[in-house]
Amino acid sequence: MDLKSFHTPLTRKAFLKSVGLTAATAALGPFAGSLMAAEKETSRDPAQPPSIKLTVNGEARTVEGPPQMTLLAALRDRLDLTGAKPACEQGTCGACTVLMDGLPVNACMMLAIDAAGKSITTVEGLAKKGLTPIQEALIYHDGMQCGFCTPGVTVSLHALLERQSRPSSHEIKTALSGHLCRCGAYSGMMAAALSLAKGERLPRVMPSAKEQRTGRGVPRLEGRAKVTGEALYAVDARPKGWMVARALDCPFARGKIVNRPNETAARMVAGVQKVEIFERTSIGQPFAVVVAETMEAAEEGLTRLAIQAEPF
Ligand code: FES
Ligand code: FES
Repeated sequence: MDLKSFHTPLTRKAFLKSVGLTAATAALGPFAGSLMAAEKETSRDPAQPPSIKLTVNGEARTVEGPPQMTLLAALRDRLDLTGAKPACEQGTCGACTVLMDGLPVNACMMLAIDAAGKSITTVEGLAKKGLTPIQEALIYHDGMQCGFCTPGVTVSLHALLERQSRPSSHEIKTALSGHLCRCGAYSGMMAAALSLAKGERLPRVMPSAKEQRTGRGVPRLEGRAKVTGEALYAVDARPKGWMVARALDCPFARGKIVNRPNETAARMVAGVQKVEIFERTSIGQPFAVVVAETMEAAEEGLTRLAIQAEPF
């Protein structure tokens, strides 16, 4: 980023760059072409969002949304599959991991249109015929704490064990390397995957009364909910009429807007409900906040403000 000044151009890709997500855009790799195509399509009438046909957890599903809609937004906001979590939304934490044709992908870094025709499996789709071995092992070895990262970890380890039933310790660590666990529950995750790699048979998940008396701990009661994606967090709440807010943060110690933001254009984006602009602000505080019915509308509103700012 230019540390002397910055502005918000009219494309999503450049917008991501302007708010410091250059790495996220660069990391799109093979998807960058689709993003460019999606940018061109943003001039499409927003009242007629395209339909995207997806295969999710074995079922044919159709979602509607703008071309820049991510796979994560399609799963969570359109299909109500909230197992995959939004956290960094820059492709670095792995909380949003789902399987595409059996391989882990960061759903926050994929456009939904790129998933058309592929087979998507979310954590909700793993336990259709009872818990999978890795789900049982994660519960037994307590490979979780708060559980926010657990859906992503679960699908990644499941994919590894599907590809290779006896992975090495190094391969398990590699599979976990894309997952940031703020609680530091890695030892339990490793123990769970290693136990399956060694072919160990797990005892029953719930110990008997006698086992409990002789010292074996009781698995956490919410373990099943955490490995299946049923556990709900604040970000999963969908109260009636819920909205999304996106902010354009100031990257300077003190910064000021030097042009006239196009507030009218931002308000004209379908779904945008509120626009707030702060002409002078400081690092980490917003120059602008847009509240909208969808994430894509909020981001588009911010982009259309076309804010130019510099330090003072
Ligand atoms: S939310 Fe997708 S990688 Fe962090
Ligand atoms: S269990 Fe809390 S982030 Fe991993």
